[in-house]
Amino acid sequence: MKRKVTKAIFPVAGMGTRFLPATKSVPKEIMTLVDRPLIQYAIDEARAAGIEDFIFVTSRGKSALEDYFDHAPDLEASLQASGKMALLDILNDTNMDSGAIAYMRQHKPLGLGHAVSCARKLIGDEPFAVILPDDVIAAEKPCLQQMVEAYQETGGAMVAAMEVAPERTSSYGVLDVAAGEGPVLSVKDMVEKPAPGTAPSNLAVIGRYILTPEVMRNLDEVERGAGGEIQLTDAIAQELQQGRDVFGYRFDGQRFDCGSKAGFLQATVAFALARDDLRDEFSAYLTEMQSLKQAAQ
Ligand code: UTP
Repeated sequence: MKRKVTKAIFPVAGMGTRFLPATKSVPKEIMTLVDRPLIQYAIDEARAAGIEDFIFVTSRGKSALEDYFDHAPDLEASLQASGKMALLDILNDTNMDSGAIAYMRQHKPLGLGHAVSCARKLIGDEPFAVILPDDVIAAEKPCLQQMVEAYQETGGAMVAAMEVAPERTSSYGVLDVAAGEGPVLSVKDMVEKPAPGTAPSNLAVIGRYILTPEVMRNLDEVERGAGGEIQLTDAIAQELQQGRDVFGYRFDGQRFDCGSKAGFLQATVAFALARDDLRDEFSAYLTEMQSLKQAAQ
């Protein structure tokens, strides 16, 4: 039976070691692309997909995230008094209604699968989405919305998939899929971080999922997998062994790996160039940099 997807889990309890020293005191998800933190992009995408309940799995040192979604009465009053209505609108987008947002603690960083399972009591017996905020996807129709629409047709579990260079497959969950056309792929098997040369394909799972309550139950049972962590991929792969459907969804859009420095910088450039208020000045700067580089060579 297919049901509306109204709950999303945002696992944000990781240590973000690739961004040290910044992440010593700033959660990775608060780092900004142009002027919006990564978490704001994730929330906007979830809202566009019809998500009403937002569940954050956090850890020690992430309180800046909780503050970010609080109302800021003094700031709001000051903007109102000075007639800065456009800024007030921007601020309003960051507000969450009381009761729409919940925070769970993951007490030990035991892996993405473990982080998701920390939210099991809030999910209950419903399908749910998982969004990893450090995967930022620029798309005309937001990625999760594309997936929710496809899920209305397929049911089952669904993971976002994209092709990566063969030498990069060992950094991802990788899909073994039945031959097929179009964005929806029938998954035969999936493996987390396959050893180089052993990946079943170059179709990698990236940070958007629609999952069933059965996956949540599987998470209680899966053993530690790749990297000694409890892997979400392993709990989804169990669905296949249990005879249930799993689909890959080849989304339309460009994904930036903002968990890595190079990906974050690429996203910064792409999002700056997409902004009407920055495009001209910023592209002139990039052109100048390019000519300086060519002149120096
Ligand atoms: P990453 O593999 O990117 O790990 O986690 P990380 O800790 O965030 O970053 P690095 O590798 O140390 O730089 C992917 C997602 O899973 C969450 C992270 O917060 C991120 O959203 N995660 C990971 C957890 O919530 N808990 C974990 O135990 C592990």
